[in-house]
Amino acid sequence: MNSHRVCLLPGDGIGVEVIAQAEAVLRALPVEWRFERGRIGFGAYQELGTPLPEETLAMVRRAEATLFGAVTTPPNLPGYFSPILRLRQGLDLYANIRPCRSFDHPSSRPGINLVIVRENTEGLYSGVERVEDGGDRAVSERIITRHASERIIHKAFQVARQNGFRKVTLVHKANVLRETCGLFRRVGLEIAPEYPDIVMEEMLVDTCAMELVRLPEQFEVIVTTNLFGDILSDEASMLVGGLGVAYSGNLGEQTAVFEPVHGSAPKLAGLDKANPAAAILSAAMLLDYLGEAESAAKVRQAVQACIARHQVTEDLGGSLTTSQMAQQVIEQLGSREKQVSQNVPVMEE
Ligand code: IPM
Ligand code: MG
Repeated sequence: MNSHRVCLLPGDGIGVEVIAQAEAVLRALPVEWRFERGRIGFGAYQELGTPLPEETLAMVRRAEATLFGAVTTPPNLPGYFSPILRLRQGLDLYANIRPCRSFDHPSSRPGINLVIVRENTEGLYSGVERVEDGGDRAVSERIITRHASERIIHKAFQVARQNGFRKVTLVHKANVLRETCGLFRRVGLEIAPEYPDIVMEEMLVDTCAMELVRLPEQFEVIVTTNLFGDILSDEASMLVGGLGVAYSGNLGEQTAVFEPVHGSAPKLAGLDKANPAAAILSAAMLLDYLGEAESAAKVRQAVQACIARHQVTEDLGGSLTTSQMAQQVIEQLGSREKQVSQNVPVMEE
């Protein structure tokens, strides 16, 4: 049996609860795990003085892959930074892959099977901001490079091929952002002929936002810059059930970090109400990344079956708690693994 070294970073709020459940699902599989648990987020900051301790960073670096929950980021705390953005940029996890597929549930539209491939290291997330004019003028630099555009667009075509898709939609706003989006678009037009089996179309981001509501079935792979991908992926999640089921992977050349798209939801924290599906589906993506395709497929099928039977949390109109829903998933896997604690304290790992 293969043994995998995986880092678990529960983080803050509901991150703790959903990662505990995803871990229970992973442990119920015929896979041998060497889990390491790291501190990250506001809780880590309060206890250790930093939201991303060196030790955690080292753990993520030496793991084959990481499963991250969510963190709380207070907007106005001097010296605080978003640790997930730091991980993405620091480890050069340049591709944020966000699949969005229909579930057999009234909250989901049928016929949707798309993947958003979001550039994850630059754009409006480059962190280069300043204030001028005594604080009355604020400037953000939107950095787009040929290098980052090339690798994310190649990744989009590769994701298309791996999934049997025939189309990549390159989303931009080059009519206004003539230099930054202009470069991203040009690089796309240069690369597209290298993939003659796949059609590349381009679309302005506002049109894309509209088309995702009007006719989402038309999309297969969407490739776009960082902030556009952030916004469109939240929008797309609502087509199939919302943030409770939206999962993602941040992929680099050396390692990868998988995470639910949702945040730490402080208001839900500790209530055992959060939908664990997003974290469990992120764990399935991690299994695929580790080469455990069979287990990944089993986990996905188990989650789909629970959702189809309305064995779901309140966000999807059900009455199960976080741990009860995860337990249903585990039972679907055919395992008798014991349920983990019903009510996980917020800051406990
Ligand atoms: C996401 C989140 C993050 C982002 C936040 C938490 C910084 O919204 O993963 O989509 O903006 O990328
Ligand atoms: Mg987001």
